[in-house]
Amino acid sequence: ELCKGINGLDKVILRESRGSSAEVYLYGGHVTSWKNDHGEELLFLSSKAIFKPPKAIRGGIPICFPQFGGLGTLDQHGFARNRTWTIEDDPPPFPTNTLSKAFVDLILKPSEEDMKSWPHSFEYRLRVALGPGGDLMLTSRIRNTNSEGKPFSFTFAYHTYFSVSDISEVRVEGLETLDYLDNLRNKERFTEQGDALTFESEVDKIYLSTPTKIAIIDHEKKRTFVVRKDGLPDAVVWNPWDKKAKAMADFGDDEYKYMLCVEAAAIEKPITLKPGEEWKGRVELSAVPSSYCSGQ
Ligand code: BG6
Repeated sequence: ELCKGINGLDKVILRESRGSSAEVYLYGGHVTSWKNDHGEELLFLSSKAIFKPPKAIRGGIPICFPQFGGLGTLDQHGFARNRTWTIEDDPPPFPTNTLSKAFVDLILKPSEEDMKSWPHSFEYRLRVALGPGGDLMLTSRIRNTNSEGKPFSFTFAYHTYFSVSDISEVRVEGLETLDYLDNLRNKERFTEQGDALTFESEVDKIYLSTPTKIAIIDHEKKRTFVVRKDGLPDAVVWNPWDKKAKAMADFGDDEYKYMLCVEAAAIEKPITLKPGEEWKGRVELSAVPSSYCSGQ
């Protein structure tokens, strides 16, 4: 169902028969809402989010492509999150997601302007799907459509903002003992201690070569988010905390308490595609009552 969202921007609403739903803005190919079958919002979206190009929407799931971060002349986190994507009615078949009836297929191709900052032709196909149990699945397929034999490389992240009831009561499992690059300390490499992650100050880390499954446990809500990823070896964990929150115009001063970004990503080793090659990166998000997960 295609309709108008904030500021008249086009959005697609997906509804699954048991009641879960999701909203996807064509601007950014950006998921801004994911609700379970009780109508509870599972993603964080800032009350100050600016739904106006060229600003990326603060919250939901921005897509970082063709780069994660702010290297060189390319925009911070690339340009995919602030371009308007197109609905593609009949994309080449996806090998997965066949069970889902609630999905939308979007496509992004570079404009002439984009080719100036990143001179590579590509087709980026994104499928956003709701599974029968309300799981949210994002599948990205990026193809090098350069006819002149030129390969290209990129880094990538699904910059997912999870909604949590109180950041100081949240625990992340699946990243302990791993190496990470600390964005707050010059991207230096460190090794995480043996315990599940908890949060009491700003965090901005890129965990390397992580397991395919990461759990975000919200004790107060008695809810666990499970992130399953494929083709995306790394995982970013980000919370701006109070000082950075105040410095961001599109983020409320206290909102850092109610969000945590855990981002399935490919950063340390950029993906390289030869002409005609396609890369696939997939994430599956589920939200379950915590008691179901005890002992995992
Ligand atoms: C995170 C980065 O993923 O995104 C942070 O690790 C960055 O360094 C944050 O501050 C937000 O980025 P932006 O461009 O959306 O403000």
